[in-house]
Amino acid sequence: MRILLLGSGGREHALARALARDPMTDCVVSAPGNPGTAEVGRNLDLDPCDGAAVVAAAREHDIDLVVVGPEAPLVAGVADALRTADIPVFGPGAEAARLEGSKAFAKEVMAAADIPTALAQVCTSARELADALDSFGPPYVVKNDGLAAGKGVIVTDNRAAAEAHGLACLAVEDGAVLVEEYLDGPEVSLFCVCDGSEAVALLPAQDFKRALDHNEGPNTGGMGAYSPLAWLPDGFTEDVLARVARPALAELSRRGTPFVGLLYCGLALTSRGVRVVEFNVRFGDPETQAVLELLTSSLPELLYAAATGRLATAPRPRFEDGAAVAVVLAAPGYPGTARTGEPIDGVAEVADAVRHAGTRLQGETLVSAGGRVLAVVGRGADVEQARVEAYDALRHIRLADAHYRRDIAAHTDQIEVPEASGGSRGRDEHPGWSVT
Ligand code: AMP
Ligand code: GLY
Repeated sequence: MRILLLGSGGREHALARALARDPMTDCVVSAPGNPGTAEVGRNLDLDPCDGAAVVAAAREHDIDLVVVGPEAPLVAGVADALRTADIPVFGPGAEAARLEGSKAFAKEVMAAADIPTALAQVCTSARELADALDSFGPPYVVKNDGLAAGKGVIVTDNRAAAEAHGLACLAVEDGAVLVEEYLDGPEVSLFCVCDGSEAVALLPAQDFKRALDHNEGPNTGGMGAYSPLAWLPDGFTEDVLARVARPALAELSRRGTPFVGLLYCGLALTSRGVRVVEFNVRFGDPETQAVLELLTSSLPELLYAAATGRLATAPRPRFEDGAAVAVVLAAPGYPGTARTGEPIDGVAEVADAVRHAGTRLQGETLVSAGGRVLAVVGRGADVEQARVEAYDALRHIRLADAHYRRDIAAHTDQIEVPEASGGSRGRDEHPGWSVT
């Protein structure tokens, strides 16, 4: 199978490796890719959001399957262009991609499909924003309605900061902002591979969204992740498939815009039951770097089955027993304006553990080229071992003034699942899903 992979982040490097290691794969061509994907296959200099250019490249390279990494090409309709050209693609069309592209749309789909989520109010004026903040009260959760690369959300007890963020979102043309009920409890990312009607889950993972240790500092795209989650209640994954993923698929099919691709269910296990925090329409970054490390079955076979509507008869994904941890190394300034263009040393010493993200080759020298520069992945019999492996690898890498969290996947034994979300319950009972 000849595969074209769109994107250039750490997620794409992890996807490229997992796709390429399967014997059924002939080649993985990445567009535009990064120095990591260039080691796995070939990189094409191509705008992944230009549908006509992607279709032309797929034809020229005799591609059997296109895998879309990031959300931007999906929202731009690149998967639609490929489908129109009869090229199998793993990724939803623009309409279904609005699940991520518009938080208001996601709320509308969840309401129609009875999927439990945080109460929310969409505001389009300063007056509505102020009223919503007062009626929800602290902690305030204020979200930009549109795409913001994980950085459009503020969670704060400070009303003035919440209002300022909301007003900034409203200041752009057609700006809208959501004020939401605060969800307490641990978060889980569950990746569901979908073919329009059927959904199959990969291993649950947990992401560390805040920039600093102890979950402090601003939200980022994600500073680290681990998988699996030993603390989850039994039956969790099946429940999420039954109560979240499949109802969402059914609702999108009913609307005539079936979802083919990766439905990322971002969930919170709250004291009032399990709730959807967000949907994304692509693999999560850096969760993918951890989850795919454990996959033992064929990724190209699974994604091709989804792209061609044959998931029901495809072999289920299988995973090895251990755990994987990914730790992100970020450039100085991230998640604000990152300082880039500086040499990164030591990658060759631990190349197998490194997933490139914001890196670029300047002649022979690897230099930083983005906020999240790379991730290191550790694998072990359990999370603790995997964590040690990841941090050991990270010690070999040198980038001036770079920062990373030191507590990725630490203290996982202290995570408490509230009873209403299935914590401290009998084996046969299920997480709570009641909508209050
Ligand atoms: P989102 O862009 O919706 O993914 O939100 C980014 C992050 O903000 C989430 O992963 C949570 O950590 C946090 N967050 C979002 N919504 C809520 C909420 N309603 N309550 C608490 N935290 C939230
Ligand atoms: N790690 C969070 C995301 O990919 O959105």
